[in-house]
Amino acid sequence: MKLFDVYPLNDITIVKALGSYVWDDQDQKYLDLYGGHAVISIGHTHPHYVKRLEDQLHKVGFYSNSIKIPLQIELAEKLGKVSGKEDYQLFLCNSGAEANENALKLASFYNGRKKIIAFKKAFHGRTSLAVAVTDNPNIVAPVNQTDNVIFLPFNDEAALEAAFKQNDISSVIIEGIQGVGGINVASDSFLQKIRSLCDEYNAVYIADSVQCGYGRSGKFYAHDHSGVQADIYTMAKGMGNGFPVAGISIAPKIQPKHFMLGTTFGGNHLACAAALAVLEIIEQDELIKNAETVGNYLIEELKKLPHIKEVRGKGLMIGIDLPDELKTVKRNLLFNHKIFTGEAKPNVIRLLPALNITKVEADIFLEAFKAELKTPIP
Ligand SMILES: Cc1ncc(COP(=O)(O)O)c(C=O)c1O
Repeated sequence: MKLFDVYPLNDITIVKALGSYVWDDQDQKYLDLYGGHAVISIGHTHPHYVKRLEDQLHKVGFYSNSIKIPLQIELAEKLGKVSGKEDYQLFLCNSGAEANENALKLASFYNGRKKIIAFKKAFHGRTSLAVAVTDNPNIVAPVNQTDNVIFLPFNDEAALEAAFKQNDISSVIIEGIQGVGGINVASDSFLQKIRSLCDEYNAVYIADSVQCGYGRSGKFYAHDHSGVQADIYTMAKGMGNGFPVAGISIAPKIQPKHFMLGTTFGGNHLACAAALAVLEIIEQDELIKNAETVGNYLIEELKKLPHIKEVRGKGLMIGIDLPDELKTVKRNLLFNHKIFTGEAKPNVIRLLPALNITKVEADIFLEAFKAELKTPIP
């Protein structure tokens, strides 16, 4: 059997990782500013994380959601505390798409409606409803097509107001900072408008925090910068530092009923141990503050550099929008300077490092990036 070929690959095999570094099978070291696609939050193979998973594996790795799992309660309490949403409720699942799928479904159960507002350039995942609210026709299969989704321009308050007036809206789903769409920050006033319209029409405000959450933006959820609360926060990537665990944090006004949501693997013992280890390190090492400090430093330094079209983002979720002439910079960073970065089409370099990246590591990147910018533009 061979692999189903859906990913264009770099010819690199990673065999070892520590902190913000990874090594390939030739023992070549790379600085990782991509974090395996925003997944590595507390650094690769963090000793506390490794130990907590190892200890748990020796006790019990998995049992179903038909029995009590105290680790889930511990995780809900810790997440409530670290995220500042102690009165919210936690439902655990396995991936970002699944978190959004459950959030959209829960909103519809809550108000009995069908219409969803999503935004241009949004990415919310690949399962049926998550892909239906994703603005990329290439990944929407005919079976996923629905007329229940209304796509609006990002940060356009007038369009939002009009859509609420004309439709019976169930929910609004929005990334606090669009990731795949190229690092576009939702304005505070736009998120405040979503909050007030959802209140007025009894619709549900869903904050997709799968990529921009878990401290990456310098606040626990990127949407927190606006000062208003969402009804449901969806989270995944940074939550398990690589272990597949995801969740939705649900406002108290939305009440559960037995069997309304469910999953086989979600919230298993190992997943909870991984998620708890992550929150313990985020709290203990003040990683949200570090994301803000090192992130601001990177953004300020990048803004001083020539040739860049725009630097966007918050904290350690940064997009460097480059002109077409500099489209090889990302590849050069990888192959000439051994630095992993992310990308967004057409020419945005996405920085999504571990939240405990140091200023020294940020400087290594800045030096390499400056060297690339100095190469004459053809
Ligand atoms: C904002 C956002 N939502 C949802 C998803 C889907 O997450 P997953 O790939 O874990 O299903 C992603 C993945 O990149 C994402 O960036």
